[in-house]
Order: sequence, then C-alpha cells, then structure tokens
Amino acid sequence: MSAPLANDLLLRALLREPTPRTPVWMMRQAGRYLPEYRATRAKAGSFLALCTNPELACEVTLQPLERYPLDAAILFSDILTIPHAMKLGLEFEAGEGPKIARPVRTAADVDALFVPDPASDLRYVIDAVALIRRELGGRVPLIGFAGSPWTVGTYMVEGGGSRTFDHIKRMMYGEPALLHKMLEVVTRATIEYLNAQVAAGAQALMVFDTWGGALSPATYREFSLRYMAYIAAEVTRENEGRRVPLVLFTKGGGAWLPEMAAAGADALGVDWTTDLATARAATAGKVALQGNLDPCVLYAAPKVIEAEVARVLASFGHGEGHVFNLGHGIHQDVDPAHAGAMIAAVHALSPQYHREEG
Ligand code: CP3
Repeated sequence: MSAPLANDLLLRALLREPTPRTPVWMMRQAGRYLPEYRATRAKAGSFLALCTNPELACEVTLQPLERYPLDAAILFSDILTIPHAMKLGLEFEAGEGPKIARPVRTAADVDALFVPDPASDLRYVIDAVALIRRELGGRVPLIGFAGSPWTVGTYMVEGGGSRTFDHIKRMMYGEPALLHKMLEVVTRATIEYLNAQVAAGAQALMVFDTWGGALSPATYREFSLRYMAYIAAEVTRENEGRRVPLVLFTKGGGAWLPEMAAAGADALGVDWTTDLATARAATAGKVALQGNLDPCVLYAAPKVIEAEVARVLASFGHGEGHVFNLGHGIHQDVDPAHAGAMIAAVHALSPQYHREEG
C-alpha cells in the first residue's frame, strides 16, 4: 500500500521516543515568503482557489520540502475551511485577511449551523491529503490540522480577524449557553474533519488555538481548553498500525501549560514568550513540546539565527520530546535563506542533546 516512512523523527519525538537529533518543521512553511508559493498562488488566482484545488494544494505543500531538509509536511489548507463549508461566506481580500459575510450573532444564526460532511462539503481537503500522502512517498510524515473551536469561533462571530473580540466576548459573558451551543457544533465538525484527514493519510494532527490567549484563565478553561480536550478524546489516535500524535497549540497559553498537559494530547506547541525549560518543568514529562523560536529572529543575520537556535535547544535541554519549530507562523517578508539557516542549525546543534549520558 503506502511506502514505509523513511524519516519518522517527528512521530517519534512527539511520542517522546529517542531520536538521533531534534526534528524540525515550520508553522506556515508553505507560504508567501517562498517565491514558488507566490507563483502557484498566482496560477490559482486566489488563496481560496489554491486551498480548494487538491493538485495545487499538494504542489505548495511539497515546495518547502524541495528546498529544505524538513522533517514534516503540513497539509496546505486553512482553519477557516469549516466555516466555509458551513456556508457562512468566507472571503480572503488581498492584504486584509479573512472575512465572513454572514457572522453568527443570534440564537437563530446558531440554530442554522450544521456539521459539514467531510466527504462532500470538505472533499477538496480530503482529496488533497490523499494526494499529498501519495506524492510524499514516505519521505516524511504528513501533519493534518484544524483550528480550535474557540479560535474558529472568533472568526465566525466577529466576521473576520479582531483585536478585541468584542462580539464573541459579549456573547460569552451575556449568553454563555448560546456560545457553548455554537462551540459544540464546531467541535463536532472538527472531530469529523480531523478523522477524515487521518483516514485519508494524515499521520499526526495539530489543533491551532491562535486566540485562546485572549481569554482569562477561567474562560480559557471553559470555552477553549474544554473543547480541545473533547477533540483529544474523540479523534482517531491510531491508524495504519501506528499512533497518530496530537499537538495542541494555544498562542499566549504559557501560564496554562499544566492544564493543557492534562487535556489528552501527546504534545503541546509553545510560543516564544515561555522558555522551553519552564514549559518542560510545568508539564513534568507528560507531553512532548513543539517550538519555540520567535519568528522575528529570522529577520536577523544567520550568525544570530544560529545563536538563537542554540538557545532554544539548550532551554529544552537533553533528552527526548522536543520538536523544533517557530513559536508562530513564519512571516511573509523573511528571506528564505534565513529559514534555511535555522534548519541547518537544528541539524548541526541538536545531536549533542540526544547522545547517551555519560
Ligand atoms: O502551516 C502551514 O504551512 C499550513 C498552512 C496554514 C495556513 N493557515 C495557510 C495560510 C495553516 C496551518 C493555517 C492556519 C491558520 N489560518 C490559523 C492558525 C495558525 C496561525 O497562523 O495562527 C489562522 C488564525 C488562520 C486564519 C487565517 N488564514 C488568517 C488570519 C489569514 C490571513 C493572515 C495573513 O497572513 O494574511 C489566513 C490566510 C492564510 N492561510 C495564508 C496562508 C499561507 C496567506 C494567504 C495568502 O497566500 O495570501
């Protein structure tokens, strides 16, 4: 059937199994900083046209792997495919970010929501996963993903990006039962969507909670973490005779790592505002950690990048359970050679942390 995995460092590190070096990939590794991505997007006509075309989505997924010795591919898609499939009218205006034409604000809006069928409404994503998996030919594992219900919910209620989250927080404090009802539908949709990605060939899963850090500790627990824990309990965790590791990433969630570590995931993403040494102590060996170089380090000269990579590796320290990554997505104006310098530094500097002690 499918080719055996030539490089399974990512899967092993996410399960805290020994590896000869630290695996590395980058959030948003297929993106606008790469000229070949911009060329394929121009060919597609728009970002959404690129996402909905499995052949082109596969092409851009593989582009960073042609350029760099990365240890994972991540499905090229977006967390807003679910509201798109819910027919809320998703658009990406050039340079403006996502817009939702029909935001969810009232009880009637919530009642009208439905759980999309991945096999039909999200067919283009599932087809892309199967195609990417075939084209990878076992080079590296393929990561599937979705947004957290809270983060996807912010776009659904706000109608786009937000700094203050006024509308969804108004609902959260004013009509909490209504927000829970919406988040339950999004959670069910997300579980079916992730399970369909695994069935089509995704070998690890990541949930992006980009806006969980905008919550208070109590509301994070109730409106974000709770639904991620539900996802962790319900998604497929074993396929093709192998564990499918799950990574949860709350940007700005450093203070909540102990609670996140108890949510049922194999690994946690960490942004650059928390040292990995602190994160490791806070999670007490319950989960692997993924991160956490400040993406802005890639603006600096290669010598500086190398020193900052060394600092991140040293902060995690010796032993298993670290996947090197940025603390958030790579910025669009980064020099691709600088991303290469970061990856080369991980290859050069990480083996010393994996040798037998003594
Ligand atoms: O990591 C990868 O390489 C996989 C691809 C990926 C994209 N979006 C492609 C994309 C992933 C994992 C995402 C997730 C995503 N999408 C998140 C969570 C992770 C994060 O970065 O915080 C969020 C919040 C979104 C929603 C979204 N999509 C926004 C806010 C934007 C516009 C922001 C911007 O940079 O313009 C997008 C568009 C988007 N998604 C782009 C890419 C490559 C840029 C679109 C383009 O080509 O113009």
